[in-house]
Amino acid sequence: MKRLAILLSGRGSNFEAIARNISEGKLEAEIAVVVSNNPDAKGLETAAGLGLKTVCLPSKGVDTGVWAAGAVEALRPFEADLICLAGFMRRVGGPLLEAYAGRILNIHPSLLPSFPGLHVQQQALDYGVKYSGCTVHFVDAGLDTGAIVKQAAVEVKDSDDADTLAARILVEEHRIYSEAIALVLSGRFKIQGRRVVETQARTAGV
Ligand code: GAR
Repeated sequence: MKRLAILLSGRGSNFEAIARNISEGKLEAEIAVVVSNNPDAKGLETAAGLGLKTVCLPSKGVDTGVWAAGAVEALRPFEADLICLAGFMRRVGGPLLEAYAGRILNIHPSLLPSFPGLHVQQQALDYGVKYSGCTVHFVDAGLDTGAIVKQAAVEVKDSDDADTLAARILVEEHRIYSEAIALVLSGRFKIQGRRVVETQARTAGV
């Protein structure tokens, strides 16, 4: 069974969706550990409640590279095949990128390359786009720049504020993250330039 390490900073609803898809047999994987850089993250509490291994590595005031080196050490015993950033609100430092090259995924609540960074639903509203959505991508050294694995579009309504738009995008996040994880764990893809291309029709998974 392939092993996931989840990195989160807050609420953890994407983590919960992954855990639910695993427990319902829709995603073939196991969660080896949930790591948070925020001691107050609700997702950490949820993970412990589910009986999962948790690690808290506070990042406040810690240099990104130093934190990442500590995370590599903390993750080592869990032998993760794939790291899934699930609302992880910090840049991933060099040591993690090197140790898990091509094995880190992130979910981002916009249609990249539009609106990288933070407060992106508000950015989408302010720009006036008619569609936004979410993106699962490989993590590289840039800010939300890695190769795109899956995207889902969500229509922006005239009545939307950042919260209502975020809530509809989140529904799609919960769906496509597990789909992207299943694809990456299956190994049935190749990367051509920036394009992640499926190499065989998939018959299982979510
Ligand atoms: C999600 O919308 C996720 O896409 C976003 O934070 C939220 C976390 O929610 N991530 C980023 O903005 C990363 N730059 P969750 O903790 O309930 O999964």
